[in-house]
Amino acid sequence: MNRFCFVIHPLSFDDIARYEPGAKGKGEAILRKIMEWMPSYAAVHVTGVRTPDGRETEGWFVAAPLLPQQLVEFPREEVYRRVVRAIEIGAELGAQVAGLGAFTAVVGDAGITINERSPIPVTTGNSLTIAAGVASLFRGAHEMGVDPSASTAVVIGATGSIGSACARLIAPKVARIVLVARNETRLRNFHRQFAAEISCDSEYTTDARRAVRGAELVLTATTSTHDVVEAEDLLPGAVVCELSLPHDVSRRVAQRRPDVLVIEGGNMLVPGNPRFERVRERGTDFDLNLPPRTALACMSETMILALEGRLEPYTLGRGIKLERIVEIEEMAESCGFELAGMRAFDAAITPEKIAATREAAARSTFLLTERSGIPSGVEG
Ligand SMILES: NC(=O)c1ccc[n+]([C@@H]2O[C@H](COP(=O)([O-])OP(=O)(O)OC[C@H]3O[C@@H](n4cnc5c(N)ncnc54)[C@H](OP(=O)(O)O)[C@@H]3O)[C@@H](O)[C@H]2O)c1
Repeated sequence: MNRFCFVIHPLSFDDIARYEPGAKGKGEAILRKIMEWMPSYAAVHVTGVRTPDGRETEGWFVAAPLLPQQLVEFPREEVYRRVVRAIEIGAELGAQVAGLGAFTAVVGDAGITINERSPIPVTTGNSLTIAAGVASLFRGAHEMGVDPSASTAVVIGATGSIGSACARLIAPKVARIVLVARNETRLRNFHRQFAAEISCDSEYTTDARRAVRGAELVLTATTSTHDVVEAEDLLPGAVVCELSLPHDVSRRVAQRRPDVLVIEGGNMLVPGNPRFERVRERGTDFDLNLPPRTALACMSETMILALEGRLEPYTLGRGIKLERIVEIEEMAESCGFELAGMRAFDAAITPEKIAATREAAARSTFLLTERSGIPSGVEG
């Protein structure tokens, strides 16, 4: 049996309190300080991942306990040192391939240097995240009755590792695509190359809010640590697929926009009977804040590489080849991984919820046309 490890880190203070109840009530400044000094450690033992044809893997989630902001702001060498140390701990436990969670995959050159310094091959897991994100966006469009071929799609974070590949996969299926990021020079250069490869209309802008106001389909994959998609800007009936961790979509959308569908796009159903057990408190499950048997796509890619015996640095850097994405999707299928049920704002999206969203969207569109004002779902 091949084994894997996956580097995790808290995305928020809520995450810290979920893993370490003793942290509740402690000031954020103190927690931040504690984490500055906290070494990497094995947090979770993963067992029970089993393909329909009987292949198995086990692994460990090893924590490099820093918040997103700290991973961005700390000296890059220090972050590399901590992430490589986390992988070394995984390798000492028997892992033969390593995955990078959330911001540990974003720092610097997106895994290339970490792979060079790691004792075992490293993947960011982004190939499967891209495949899952694009599939989730179009599943959402189908559920909402949105015709992609007549729609404008916006990709926020379009020059990134995930966003750039998502844009390439979305473009052939939509009427128009708008690319968004903050660095205009990089965006312009990317768009020039991108526009030459695709057949639909395209443009780029650094103004995410303006772009969202004209889009039926939105996919976000940024490294922002604040909200990027606001409740006031979304079209009635819009479908928003969110890959960013931490989230880009304002939590206010859940309360104020019953007429839009937001989906967390990167979740996969893991085959077998997976168990995520805390290393320190044996017999206690680790709360991934996801339904049972569900893992992030980047975690799933790492598990799949172990199951398939592909002990190699599968996805690294920015500029991921589309063939890689197609291949990992095929491997995922052969290992019995599936797109997880739709979910957003910590809750499942039921058929009833979809029906209610469609009704609210139809009402908002009607009122918008009648009054040519603000959609009725947008209040206060
Ligand atoms: N769900 C999953 O399974 C999963 C797996 C892996 C990664 N992720 C998440 O996916 C996200 C993207 O990862 P990545 O590897 O693609 O990162 P990346 O390569 O660093 O790309 C980030 C992109 O976001 C843009 N950006 C950053 N802040 C922005 C803002 N405020 N407004 C608009 N654009 C902004 C960046 O361009 P500018 O700097 O020019 O703005 C860049 O285009 C991260 O949040 C990561 O944690 C999720």
